[in-house]
Amino acid sequence: MKYPIYLDYNATCPVDPRVLEAMLPYFTEHFGNAASRSHLLGWTAKDAVETAREQIAELLQASTKEIVFTSGATEANNLALKGVFESVFPQKNHIITVQTEHKAVLDVCLHLEKMGAETTFLQPDEFGSVTIEQIEEAIRPETFLISIMYANNEIGTIQEIEAIGTLAQKHKILFHSDATQAVGKVQIDVKAAKIDLLSLSGHKLYGPKGIGVLYINRNLKNQDLVAQMDGGKHERGFRSGTLNVPAIVGLGKACEIANAELLTESITLSKLRDCLEQGILSQIKGTKVNGNTNNRLPNLTNISFEGVDGELLLSSFRDIAVSSGSACTSASVEPSHVLKAIGVSDKLAYSSIRFSLGRFTNQEEIDFTIQYVKEVVETLRA
Ligand SMILES: Cc1ncc(COP(=O)(O)O)c(C=O)c1O
Repeated sequence: MKYPIYLDYNATCPVDPRVLEAMLPYFTEHFGNAASRSHLLGWTAKDAVETAREQIAELLQASTKEIVFTSGATEANNLALKGVFESVFPQKNHIITVQTEHKAVLDVCLHLEKMGAETTFLQPDEFGSVTIEQIEEAIRPETFLISIMYANNEIGTIQEIEAIGTLAQKHKILFHSDATQAVGKVQIDVKAAKIDLLSLSGHKLYGPKGIGVLYINRNLKNQDLVAQMDGGKHERGFRSGTLNVPAIVGLGKACEIANAELLTESITLSKLRDCLEQGILSQIKGTKVNGNTNNRLPNLTNISFEGVDGELLLSSFRDIAVSSGSACTSASVEPSHVLKAIGVSDKLAYSSIRFSLGRFTNQEEIDFTIQYVKEVVETLRA
């Protein structure tokens, strides 16, 4: 076994060797600019980008014209929220989102508030879910966007995406979903879910870092979503900038693999996850799972450990790579805003650990982790 055992796949994944292999020729041999129209190197790069677009579109049940490349999910979220806001303001200015969103949505909302936007940050229930009634109650005449993540990065809770899409469509409000943690882990059909805008990121599904996508429903034109990056009008004018061809090829390959292996992989992962969770809950007293155990990502469990100092707990885990629900800022460690929103006390939030498993996790590692966590927690409690 290799230490530390990596159980932090929701932070980032290693690049799948098959993805790396697909990417390599595009750094050296096929290094052309996909926007060069006058020679073979450009055409080869463009063909590779279009193949990737097909692979990504297939995973989302979208069409290739709806795939716009960005530098990651942070940029995709920024483009979605700021782009739509700029096109509707000042006629409309209200966004509905949830307190448990990633900062790449929450902070964009706060930024837009400075420009005149108003945001409703819905409070989820103790499992991290919001209800359709809650969303509908928040709708105002000036609401232009509902932005609700597909699955939460810290607790894994999956929202009722199809019902939210139907509601948004009924009220003629655009629906954006940050699906960064869902893509490649659960099956997604953007049409069935009536999603207008969806963000995803390469490094969360065994592709490279620094590449992502904003899916933009074909009904949205440039005037409906104002580009945030001006320049050569790449990506149908939605996002200028020379395309990162090797990364795009890698993301395409990662999506192709996910499409083929998602179902079997999610079964394997949920069995390993359940084994880890049951092992910890049954062998260590004072433990509790956070999130919605009936509807969550197959690879994740977030567990609170009572009676241990959170910072000490995390720093004692030398042989496993996990993360706490806490977000580090330069000066202090804040308790997780996600756990706080679902009603977990600050004290318990500090001592909550996210275990996120992935493609290369095996049973031996899980068995080791259960015993290891037990020893560490018991030592700290003693
Ligand atoms: C839900 C969610 N949204 C957005 C992001 C940001 O993605 P990226 O690293 O591609 O900017 C992350 C990554 O942590 C995430 O988990």
